Amino acid sequence: MSVYPIAVNRLRIVDILDVFRESPSVKTFVFRDRLCGRAMPGQFVMVWVAGVDEVPMSLSGIGSGGVCSISVGLVGEATEAIHKLEKGDCFGIRGPFGRGFSFGRRKVMIVGGGTGLAPLAAITDKLVKVNADVTFLFGAKNKDELLFHDRMSKVPSREVRVIAATEDGSYGFQGLITDMVEEVLKRERFDMIYTCGPEQMMYKVFLLAEKHHVPVEVSLERLMRCAIGLCGSCVIGKYRVCKDGPVFSGEQLREVMEEFGRFKRDFDGSKIPI
Ligand SMILES: Cc1cc2nc3c(=O)[nH]c(=O)nc-3n(C[C@H](O)[C@H](O)[C@H](O)COP(=O)(O)OP(=O)(O)OC[C@H]3O[C@@H](n4cnc5c(N)ncnc54)[C@H](O)[C@@H]3O)c2cc1C
Ligand code: FES
Repeated sequence: MSVYPIAVNRLRIVDILDVFRESPSVKTFVFRDRLCGRAMPGQFVMVWVAGVDEVPMSLSGIGSGGVCSISVGLVGEATEAIHKLEKGDCFGIRGPFGRGFSFGRRKVMIVGGGTGLAPLAAITDKLVKVNADVTFLFGAKNKDELLFHDRMSKVPSREVRVIAATEDGSYGFQGLITDMVEEVLKRERFDMIYTCGPEQMMYKVFLLAEKHHVPVEVSLERLMRCAIGLCGSCVIGKYRVCKDGPVFSGEQLREVMEEFGRFKRDFDGSKIPI
């Protein structure tokens, strides 16, 4: 079992330095935290809103001097409370937790959708710094919901190729991003695929990676409470997503195929189809 330094699990109250609207349903919140500044892309924090709830959020930005961000989709009670916060307000964080994306492959495909793009934006920033060859594929229902489009377009590197798909055809290719993934994999060889987003999308990307013999890393979402491997609410097969993940390798996913892409657990342990 990994050893968690007490400092990482201690609740810290951070001031919100800035707030950006990314899409009609997603906002980015910038804060400063020394421990998050040392996080690996793919790691997550537990965000506490006083009197409401504590929910897991990936770090969407990991900057120098500990300036970091989370990008929050409006879903229910906790995310609605976070969306109401403004510059100068504060929230609590614990973390960073879990296992992030591995790092160091040269030619990389990144595939994301929805708020799953949050940790992928963070790993892209890091890959750009080492001049990795990155193909970034992202999808959404329509142009307005396509997250981080401006951020990716402004990436200061000739090595990043951006491919977008929208279901209604309002931007980029019309259709599902997984169709584009298949097209690109037929033509080119990659050293690694990183993916995060709706589980059905990641499941298809996993199958395509297997078919084309490319290593893959998938960032999973499960219900989280403790975030340190104790409560068991995040289990998938023999793994605890908060501690063994949220990023899993293709080899690990092959061990949990009866659950991956099929169902997750509710707070009472019952199965919810995906
Ligand atoms: C590792 C990880 C990273 C995540 N990163 C992001 C991110 O970067 N941006 C983002 O917008 N969302 C992210 N999420 C999802 C986010 O945690 C949920 O959308 C949020 O918890 C919803 O809470 P709510 O009270 O607003 O909605 P609710 O109405 O309470 O819940 C709506 C749905 O959100 C999910 N959810 C609720 N509580 C939890 C919980 N404690 N743990 C996990 N899922 C929960 C469930 O599927 C639930 O059905 C991440 C989840 C995980 C596990
Ligand atoms: S959230 Fe408690 S074990 Fe993972």
